[in-house]
Amino acid sequence: MKLLVTGGAGFIGSAVVRLAVARGHQVVNLDALTYAACLDNVASVADDPNYAFVEADIRDRAALDAVFAEHAPDAVMHLAAESHVDRSIDGPGDFIETNITGTYNMLEAARAWWIKAGKPDTFRFHHISTDEVYGSLGATGQFTEDTPYDPRSPYSASKASSDHLVRAWAETYGLPVVLTNCSNNYGPYHFPEKLVPVIILNALAGKPLPIYGDGSNVRDWLYVEDHADALLLVVSEGALGRSYNIGGENERSNLELVRTLCALLDELRPKAEGSYADQITFVADRPGHDARYAIDPTRIREELGWRPSVTVEEGLKKTVQWYLENEPWWRALQDRHGVGQRLGVKA
Ligand SMILES: NC(=O)c1ccc[n+]([C@@H]2O[C@H](COP(=O)([O-])OP(=O)(O)OC[C@H]3O[C@@H](n4cnc5c(N)ncnc54)[C@H](O)[C@@H]3O)[C@@H](O)[C@H]2O)c1
Repeated sequence: MKLLVTGGAGFIGSAVVRLAVARGHQVVNLDALTYAACLDNVASVADDPNYAFVEADIRDRAALDAVFAEHAPDAVMHLAAESHVDRSIDGPGDFIETNITGTYNMLEAARAWWIKAGKPDTFRFHHISTDEVYGSLGATGQFTEDTPYDPRSPYSASKASSDHLVRAWAETYGLPVVLTNCSNNYGPYHFPEKLVPVIILNALAGKPLPIYGDGSNVRDWLYVEDHADALLLVVSEGALGRSYNIGGENERSNLELVRTLCALLDELRPKAEGSYADQITFVADRPGHDARYAIDPTRIREELGWRPSVTVEEGLKKTVQWYLENEPWWRALQDRHGVGQRLGVKA
């Protein structure tokens, strides 16, 4: 397939690009190169004849029309977004513009191209979204594809809005769409302002390991390369108009997750004295912090035969090893953006 991947210089998008090229797909990576992007994430495929990069902003409709006309994709995998909940609390404007208006532009550009191409049945607009659209769970239960939407942060509200637009374009205009809503990802090339890399890098630097509130918030952790594998399956075999929840089948509280990371670091890069867990510090909770997310993966497992390939312990070990072996990657980002301490909203 010829895939137009938006946000392919980001964390998940770059995993999709690397895997798609490895599987022989042609890939056009469209990315505005915001602070969250890093072209080093796709350096391994940059010279592949099946790969092209276009610097463009999904808020720029004319630029999108030009990309569709030039590259004539068989499918779109739309991942470009503002993705950090804390940043959405500090400044929601970019989230509205990119996640909502940008998705609207993508839908209109895709629809115009699809009509011009004679409405091919095989075309797909795959919208990549989050389980955060479903709101917060109590101690029990899981999100299914039928769980009512109940977003609670500017980020999740903007993603919920974009999901609604995608469904409306399918119902109203017949655009062939598929949607996925996935749980928290972690893994290689994760921008060092999110929980897992912040913990690893602060631990190595001897800094406090910040945990929100009492650390009891639960997430269902998904290894990014498993997510990329699921996305390529859905874009090629997902049923038209259908949405699929993707989870890692690995619920952990934030405190459990951080303790696991500390134990892995103790094993792989032991401190001269004591454990990395001694650096754990509890910080003021995020406003409106959702208590628990958990995915019911029955649909994607039964209909498409997909399951995650690693447990969270295996995935975290690979991740810690990757950060230990790729210091130039994260050092360069820290130097460029002064990041590594982002966890938390501004006072
Ligand atoms: N990270 C997660 O755990 C997670 C979980 C569920 C869903 N998602 C969704 O997956 C997608 C990718 O997430 P991520 O963590 O890789 O994000 P990311 O922040 O690492 O990457 C986003 C990419 O989009 C690009 N981008 C941002 N605004 C753009 C614009 N206006 N035009 C063009 N490109 C733009 C950025 O430059 C960056 O390369 C997002 O849609 C996000 O909502 C992420």
